[in-house]
Amino acid sequence: MNRRRFLSLAALSPLAALSNRSAFAMRLPGQHGGANSVVRRASGGLSSLTAAPGNYDLGDGPRPGAMLFNGSWPAPTIRLQQGDLFDLILHNNLDEPTIVHWHGLLPPADMDGHPIYAIGPGESRPYLFSVHERASTYWYHTHPHHRTAYQAYHGLAGFLIVDDGLDEVRGLPPASRDIPLLLADKRLNTEGAMEYNPSMADIMRGLLGNTVLVNGRQALQMSVEPAVHRLRLLNGSTARILNPAFADGRTFWLIGTDAGLLDAPLAVNSVLLSPGERVELLVDFRDDAGTTLEFLSALANITSPGPPIEFPQGAEMPMMRFVVDEPLEGESGEIPELFDAMPPPAITEGPVRPFVFTQNGPDHFINGLTYELERIDFTVEQGEPEIWRCTNAGNQPHPMHMHGAHFRVLGRSGEPIASDAGWKDTVLVRVGETVDVALRFDVPGLFLFHCHNLEHEDHGMMLNFVVNANNAIFRDGFESVP
Ligand code: C2O
Ligand code: CU
Ligand code: CU
Repeated sequence: MNRRRFLSLAALSPLAALSNRSAFAMRLPGQHGGANSVVRRASGGLSSLTAAPGNYDLGDGPRPGAMLFNGSWPAPTIRLQQGDLFDLILHNNLDEPTIVHWHGLLPPADMDGHPIYAIGPGESRPYLFSVHERASTYWYHTHPHHRTAYQAYHGLAGFLIVDDGLDEVRGLPPASRDIPLLLADKRLNTEGAMEYNPSMADIMRGLLGNTVLVNGRQALQMSVEPAVHRLRLLNGSTARILNPAFADGRTFWLIGTDAGLLDAPLAVNSVLLSPGERVELLVDFRDDAGTTLEFLSALANITSPGPPIEFPQGAEMPMMRFVVDEPLEGESGEIPELFDAMPPPAITEGPVRPFVFTQNGPDHFINGLTYELERIDFTVEQGEPEIWRCTNAGNQPHPMHMHGAHFRVLGRSGEPIASDAGWKDTVLVRVGETVDVALRFDVPGLFLFHCHNLEHEDHGMMLNFVVNANNAIFRDGFESVP
């Protein structure tokens, strides 16, 4: 990421650009100049996303009652290269408002999918911005006022993967062994159909399903080669905190978190993954030819009181199986020792902004407030480092997410979580914990800070904030901070 690209972003007025697309496209190459002059226009093979009702298929045949992007269950994976111009149109063929948010990307504020930009049935909205984020596993989902949980649950959520072309140099597995796995629990009724019927208790705790789907399938079996694989996990559940692990307890390696790679693989046996978070893993199937391995959500110690249910928060749940084939084409790969230089957090101090999470029955509060669409709750200065101190004073866990920045975890009062080591956009704050994160907002405008337990979010646990434009912005390359 270089200064020049940031300057070009700062110079864009996205709305003006959208009303005159050809002028916009012509301006970009000159602004990038030199070695950066190649601006690809790419939307991962998509030029439009249409949200519409449709059928879903858990593996036993189609059933009505889903909400799909481009007719696809699960939603299509969007793959982008750093430097791409992300250019697509959202069409709303639902019978309710919607808007898409690119979770983890840092586009101009009016491209970020804030609910004030929701479009009604039959309407369309163009998105246009350049992709400058670190290569990582991001995602996209709808974000309309009060309907985020409902729509994401029914299928309007998918992967958005940014590549930087360096994975081969890093010694990471080839594309054929790079596997995105969308993990999301659902409540299936006795007919095996998805239900979304949150009770008061479900709104207090978040709706916890009885089945974890992987890429939209129940009990998925996936064939893999006896080789090293890269798994990209996204927890797309509305409320369930997962703890992915193998039934045989084997070691695997955490290599990336929400917003980028670690500097070296971290050996783990399980990895806590709360709603909204992503992790990238390397798993070694080289010695497993001819076997079937169970990949599950292992028991985790998570306080989340409520009326008894079959699979409470933290319960062990099956997810999928890997069937390791005998034949192998080409190299089996290995676990690289080191692949990226991720500096320690450069922001270690700054004004501390406290956030306290509480609840009262079904209402969830941040600093005593529940969400109002048109109320601005606080402002931050563009380009200024801050420490956000997140304290959970309630009795449910909260995966907290802000739009508009990536952060590093500076400290956690409770037990460490493996993903605290990397670049993040969502962080789990368990009951009684305080977590400090260091961040800086480089994009001006209106953004959201909310719990990614989507029942909590839709029931008030969200604030609006504005990043005040400051003329000295974009003064450094993004990579150097925090
Ligand atoms: Cu995935 Cu506002 O978030
Ligand atoms: Cu987001
Ligand atoms: Cu919450």
